[in-house]
Amino acid sequence: MRVNHEWPDLVSSYGKNGYCAPEQRLTDENVAKLRQAIAAISEQERPEIVYESGTSVIRAVHGCHRFDQVCDRVVRLPMLVDLAEALLGGPAYVYQFKVNMKQPREGAAWPWHQDFVFWHREDGMAAPDAVNIAVFLDDVTEANGPLRVIPGSHELGMIGPASSERQASHDWRKHVAAALEYTVPDELVESLVDAYGVVPLTGPAGAVTAFHPNIVHSSSNNTSEQRRAIMLVTYNRVSNAPANPTRPEFLVNRDTTPVVRIGSDDL
Ligand code: SIN
Ligand code: MN
Repeated sequence: MRVNHEWPDLVSSYGKNGYCAPEQRLTDENVAKLRQAIAAISEQERPEIVYESGTSVIRAVHGCHRFDQVCDRVVRLPMLVDLAEALLGGPAYVYQFKVNMKQPREGAAWPWHQDFVFWHREDGMAAPDAVNIAVFLDDVTEANGPLRVIPGSHELGMIGPASSERQASHDWRKHVAAALEYTVPDELVESLVDAYGVVPLTGPAGAVTAFHPNIVHSSSNNTSEQRRAIMLVTYNRVSNAPANPTRPEFLVNRDTTPVVRIGSDDL
């Protein structure tokens, strides 16, 4: 792992706020290659593609690192792996990969939720020793449905009735649709926002943000003319790999060998 002067600040801000945004970004060339790869995948008929409810509008593509060469390389980009392993404190593997497309006018919301409840209840992940690394494939502004996070909410652990009382449906489609299975109730979100505030994660294409599995987050419908595609790679500590996940492999990677970096930060 290379030493990066930003790490101490990033690790401490991630610990305190549940998210952090490094200065380092993907180059325009890398973003262009990723966009091209996702555009080509979007032309295919594949089980990994999820549509907005009742439409032919692509909401997300999953697990692309398993079949696409550019996506395989991006999850092994040294700058992303270094960041994940610095935040996790040890060797990591790719648990999940997705690109949420948030198409102009038709990209639908993600209700307030925490990710860990899905991974814990559905896959048997023991601890929130994973991290989401988001890479913006488009400019993300207040207008095109940015991710919103409640800083510090990761410290509360799993919250809300969803985390304990509900019977799991084990229907993965309810984990990727706008009607999400496990959400944080509105009243609770209101009190959390009063206590902690809310931060939109905006920035130019290529920007990188890391966020914690227990941070409460959401995003609204995209009512603008600008697409808001975000790639989300979840790295998990190798020691935290769930024993017997049952969801499809494009949602829960079974290969838990530590990710091997490519030789440079070029795709
Ligand atoms: C997520 O919660 O996994 C992503 C939400 C978004 O793409 O806005
Ligand atoms: Mn989420």
